[in-house]
Amino acid sequence: MKREDIERIAASLEELKAKTEKEAEEIRIRLLGKKGEITALFDEFRTIDKAQKAEFGKVLNELKQKAQAKIEELKAGVCSEGPADAGGVDLSMPGDPLPLGSRHPVSIVRQQIVDIFRKFGYDVAEGPEIEDDYHVFEALNFPPNHPARDMQDTFFVSAGHLNPLLLRTHTSSVQVRTMERMPVPIRVICPGRVFRNEAISARAHCIFHQVEGLYIDEGVTFADLKQAILLFAREMFGPDTQIRMRPSYFPFTEPSAEVDVSCNICHGKGCNICKGTGWLEILGCGMVDPNVLEASGIDSKRYSGFAFGMGLERIAMLKWRVNDLRHYFENDMRFLHEFEAAPEV
Ligand code: DAH
Repeated sequence: MKREDIERIAASLEELKAKTEKEAEEIRIRLLGKKGEITALFDEFRTIDKAQKAEFGKVLNELKQKAQAKIEELKAGVCSEGPADAGGVDLSMPGDPLPLGSRHPVSIVRQQIVDIFRKFGYDVAEGPEIEDDYHVFEALNFPPNHPARDMQDTFFVSAGHLNPLLLRTHTSSVQVRTMERMPVPIRVICPGRVFRNEAISARAHCIFHQVEGLYIDEGVTFADLKQAILLFAREMFGPDTQIRMRPSYFPFTEPSAEVDVSCNICHGKGCNICKGTGWLEILGCGMVDPNVLEASGIDSKRYSGFAFGMGLERIAMLKWRVNDLRHYFENDMRFLHEFEAAPEV
């Protein structure tokens, strides 16, 4: 056994390189395999005399450990570069950047509203977009042939029978589904897409989005409704925001109101956004009509509640002064990218 043989192999370890897992394995076999160079030295070691064993034992073991470490290092190196059969592709190259989209203004506003009401303890409920007449109208106190049905031009999916299918014209239908499903007390908001048979223009579209709110418990009053809307408006439009309520009519609430917020652009002085009034309409609301509670099996003598509904496109319009509803649905990248940083006005 010669010291030079051991030193030569030890020195050559430094130079070893492998591009693939297969090459690293070949090196292992050449050095440590059954007929490998280092294995051969160990075989020889068994035959040498005691004095020589003392001399070579330690260096041989060190050589073996060094070789094992080197081979592990080579294998790890090729693994991090990808599998051996990468087909000539360098998998360590940086990837092509994927152009990221931005969030749609309606999604941004919906998330803000959901976050605000979550803080007030509301859950989120959802319902089908293809609904039946019962959940969109009948259970919400729109009797058949009632003129209030004309307030919402409906797309029918299947007409002609008693409870036709239609595209929901408002998310108030989710109120009904929630009351049917959940025990009182109920505190939910229902964001969703709605459909109306309207001619498309800057101010009207056949698809838009609403968020409905519903709160039912014992002893809920109009004062609770007013406070909930005021807190929401201040979270949404700023702490100085004022609200005002105007009497209105909806079949499913009594009394009903429409809510305006103080114009956050001119701060009440009057501008072209608020048409000189200092106020901007944001939602409809009211105390849930006892007929609506009873239709869904809730005892209207024991429980009362309030509901409200708002259009997301309208709120986004007020926040960012979008002047044409059609922008929301045309997917023009120049418009969509405006909201990357989502500056608010
Ligand atoms: N569903 C109404 C609409 O689409 C909005 C609305 C008004 C919802 C008053 C309510 C409410 O819950 O109380 O025009």
